[in-house]
Amino acid sequence: CDPKVNFEQNRCISVNSNTNYNEQPELAIYPLDTLRRDVSTSLSNISGIDRSIIFNALESTNSMDRGDLILPLPKIKVTDPATVAKRWAAELTLSGSLGKVCARGPFLQFFFDQTYLLQSTIPNILLQNEKYGQEKSRHQKKVVIEFSSPNIAKPFHAGHLRSTIIGGFLSNLYEAMGWSVTRMNYLGDWGRQFGLLAIGFERYGSERELEKQPIQHLYEVYVRINKDLAKEEKNGTSKSEISSEARAFFKKLENLDEDAIKIWSRFRSLSIHRYVETYSRLNINFDIFSGESQVSKKYMDEALNIFYQNHLVEEKDGALIIDLSQWSKNLGRAVVQKSDGTTLYLTRDVGAAMERKKNLQFDEMIYVISSQQDLYMSQLFMILQKMNFKWAKDLKHVSFGMVQGMSTRKGNVVFLDTILDEARDKALQIMKNNQTKISQVNDPRRVADLIGISAIVIQDMKSKRVNNYEFNWNRMLSFEGDTGPYLQYTHSRLRSLERSSGNFTIDMLVNADFSNLDEPQLLELVRLLAQYPDILRRAFKTQEPATVVTYLFKVCHQISSCYNKIWIAGKPSDIAIPRLAVYSASRQVLHNAMSLLGLIPVDRM
Ligand code: ARG
Repeated sequence: CDPKVNFEQNRCISVNSNTNYNEQPELAIYPLDTLRRDVSTSLSNISGIDRSIIFNALESTNSMDRGDLILPLPKIKVTDPATVAKRWAAELTLSGSLGKVCARGPFLQFFFDQTYLLQSTIPNILLQNEKYGQEKSRHQKKVVIEFSSPNIAKPFHAGHLRSTIIGGFLSNLYEAMGWSVTRMNYLGDWGRQFGLLAIGFERYGSERELEKQPIQHLYEVYVRINKDLAKEEKNGTSKSEISSEARAFFKKLENLDEDAIKIWSRFRSLSIHRYVETYSRLNINFDIFSGESQVSKKYMDEALNIFYQNHLVEEKDGALIIDLSQWSKNLGRAVVQKSDGTTLYLTRDVGAAMERKKNLQFDEMIYVISSQQDLYMSQLFMILQKMNFKWAKDLKHVSFGMVQGMSTRKGNVVFLDTILDEARDKALQIMKNNQTKISQVNDPRRVADLIGISAIVIQDMKSKRVNNYEFNWNRMLSFEGDTGPYLQYTHSRLRSLERSSGNFTIDMLVNADFSNLDEPQLLELVRLLAQYPDILRRAFKTQEPATVVTYLFKVCHQISSCYNKIWIAGKPSDIAIPRLAVYSASRQVLHNAMSLLGLIPVDRM
């Protein structure tokens, strides 16, 4: 069995290929999986412990000096783990992918066999290209991921930016893990503010501006009419004219009055049109632009019926409320219908969830919304549970902390475009400092855009989602340190290396003879590359972009420590080829991980 076979046939890399174990049959087989198999087989042979128990207890490590895989013996419940570890380490036969074993306290550390590592990992990456790291599943599951969800005519704030970035990543990650993903944007496109907006547009609206820049224009109109409203209220007009007109307009909307709907739907569709353009700058395509307005009455009526049937609601001053504190103290009470019979954010969300389950038949649905709505989401989930929907357990809230101080030259950020433009302009400024380099870049503005976006995205994803962070232009745009531009820089450097050694074919790289390759830094690098599929599985469990970002920086640092020392130029081909194969595989892994985060890796910068 040739270890350099492709992804499909990779299963036969294992020395013991009788695959009768319950070891996640859904997952693809990567070199680290083979090591897992080989270790668990050998260890099972000498210990008599069931192979699957050992297999499931093996962990990938996060520092290479601790081995490629580690077995914490307490996890498999042996008595006197430190002594057992020593004994097993001495008895274990090294074969197949396993090259070395060490006992360290109650841990066993396993290291790849060097030849196996190189001959399986590098061709594996080079042949699978963009697919390296992905899983395929036999039973493709469906997930709906709802993210971004800005409000029409209101600012696109940092919470929306984070939701967009994290939601885009999760969508890519689920796809990489073999799921079918529906990307959904649930716009704030309903409610009294649309009455206000319509009145405002009569006073201050301009058709030309609306066509030209709908999002900005509607926001400006909204701000102006709100000022008028505030003035009226301050002047003590007890019944403000504006607010009663606005209420009347919204009433018309709720009654689906044709003229009212026409005005509203123009605001909506022009805004969506512009959003689509901006999202595509971020490499994000939504499958569905839903919104609060789109929830059908049918589902909300059904929800109310179930509320009554299941005795969930009580009446208070004409409104309907659910007392959630009976199930969980801190959930408090929630209003589900106002006294005037109009619907609420919460009721729309209940109806929306029912409708999505019915129409999309998801196995899982994820809401990417800031921690400010933690309580709200717990209320929503509890209500759906008490309505006895079995699928309520398939809903997840992926929450995140706040961003402080996000502002641009013009002041506080109001539009997504403004922030992306400013990131681009600043990146371009920095690129212009090196005239020789920038003169070789095809479309500097486009490249600057991609670098600017990387800066914003990586700053956001560097630490765990729950953390708040301070928005800092200088830090995020620095080309040194763990930043987006540094990732792009490392990628483009490797691209340039590939370009300058262009006379080697991919065939030559895949079939390289690695026996001359023994620089420890390069070997470390390959061990890191072999970890990538495990990193994705871990990120899938934690739902944390930081899991991937931390890994990416480790890879970049390792590449940097090789790049200036371990040369290709001027070397004979038996040395140049295996080295280039490693650099090329590293670039592929960078490319895959960056794309997963939503970035577009650049070839020159
Ligand atoms: N538009 C809302 C806001 O800006 C976010 C929507 C979150 N999604 C939901 N299903 N409630 O706060």
